Amino acid sequence: MSRLFIRKSVQDCERDIQMRGGLRRSLNRWHLTALGVGATIGAGIFATTGTAIVGDELRPGAGPAIVLSFLLTALTCGFAALCYAEFAAMVPISGSAYTYAYASLGELVAWIIGWDLIIEYAVGNIGVAIGWSGYFRELLSHFGISLPAWLATDYRSAHMALEAVNNGASDASTTYLASAISTAPHLFGFPVIANLPAFLIVALITTVLVIGIRESANSNNAMVLLKIAVILFFCAVGLTLIRPGNWTNPELGGFAPNGWAGISAGAAIIFFSYIGFDATSTAAEEAKDPARDMPFGIIMSLVICTVLYIVLSLVMTGIAPWNKLGTPEPMVTALALADGSPRLLSLSRLIVSLGAVIAMTSVLLVFQLGQPRIFMSMARDGLLPPFLAKVHPRFKTPYLGTIITGTFVATFAAFANIAEVVDLTNIGTLFAFVLVSAGVIVLRKIEPDRPRPFRAPLVPLTPLISIAACLYLMLQLPTLTWIRFGIWLALGLLIYMVYGIRHSRLGRRAAGREN
Ligand code: ALA
Repeated sequence: MSRLFIRKSVQDCERDIQMRGGLRRSLNRWHLTALGVGATIGAGIFATTGTAIVGDELRPGAGPAIVLSFLLTALTCGFAALCYAEFAAMVPISGSAYTYAYASLGELVAWIIGWDLIIEYAVGNIGVAIGWSGYFRELLSHFGISLPAWLATDYRSAHMALEAVNNGASDASTTYLASAISTAPHLFGFPVIANLPAFLIVALITTVLVIGIRESANSNNAMVLLKIAVILFFCAVGLTLIRPGNWTNPELGGFAPNGWAGISAGAAIIFFSYIGFDATSTAAEEAKDPARDMPFGIIMSLVICTVLYIVLSLVMTGIAPWNKLGTPEPMVTALALADGSPRLLSLSRLIVSLGAVIAMTSVLLVFQLGQPRIFMSMARDGLLPPFLAKVHPRFKTPYLGTIITGTFVATFAAFANIAEVVDLTNIGTLFAFVLVSAGVIVLRKIEPDRPRPFRAPLVPLTPLISIAACLYLMLQLPTLTWIRFGIWLALGLLIYMVYGIRHSRLGRRAAGREN
């Protein structure tokens, strides 16, 4: 048993960094904040808000009360962010939650988190790629290009759209998606429906990452400013189009048509739009003053995103009836349904689509870059096979991990349904937050004297609230998501028992088989 809870000391982590050459400490607190915002604003706000507002066959929608869902999720993330901040300041080493867990809760929990982070990064990116595809399609339409629907969606979305059309839906996005069923070619009697743009964007990004991209803080800052500008643009145009009656229309059930059930189900979906603020912690090794600036970056990026999301969701549900927003591109749908000058609305849709495509591309890059580096940390520790830590001789990138991640993400992006992918990402990430929060309590108990440049307030209350709130959101997710997550964790444990436990460098060192 003690073997399962073997811990990697901070000195061990630092020794590893020295051996492989540390990274340059060049990021200040605002760079770190920009990193968080850059990884956060993407498919969650641009694409999944529609399902959260309208609901689907598995759960009720929040309606205009989606704004309360955003607040609820922001509070949950706020408590988790305080816990992340304590760890990030104390263990200023890249690798995020995986490294924290290795230093505090031991190898087994570290493995579980590392395995779980695949869900946050790789599975999350499947969702972002599908969201990207929806806005890309809209963008193409402004240039008169229309892809056949069977090459631009997945089977489940097409089927649901067909049902909606049969029930009277007539908007352009839904009728287009529904047409995939009747127009798809058949192979062995099955309709061939695949999301080609989602596949291609992941393939392109993977190629770029294998060849090597020098992510510079300046280009990230520019991207972040653009994302914020697009959201502010949508809000500014939207403010002139708001019909307050849309927020309270009694025929549609008023402000909160499905009460608390809809608000909390919505909160569990739009949790996806907050994922990424924790990615700031992966840059801990490059922070100039991690002790002070990591907590600032994590918390400030969360605050900025929360304010933007709340204003945006109020505007979106103010300009169109909420029950019409359940499309893969709800911001564009809202503008299409708004009552205003057709020229201004068409131009706005073009600008929003372009901004959304660029915003989501940058999220794809950050997560697609992050996943192979998490693999690399785990492979260096011996928990995954060494080829995942192999660096390309010419490009100097972890190319095998990058290609494996790219193949996995691109294949699922071609066939998966965004709601299912988002649910799985959310349950996995919420679970990682639970473990990080528990880690704060445990480490305060077992190592009370370790220097903590940033202390989460009111421990153990803060981490306990974080754990309870994350579990609450997890409980709002469908049973099928729990089953999928359970299978994923069981598979991870099996791999650890068969491979990781035997090859762990720390374990071998403890047994005297390695220095
Ligand atoms: N928060 C990220 C997004 O919404 C994952 O795209």
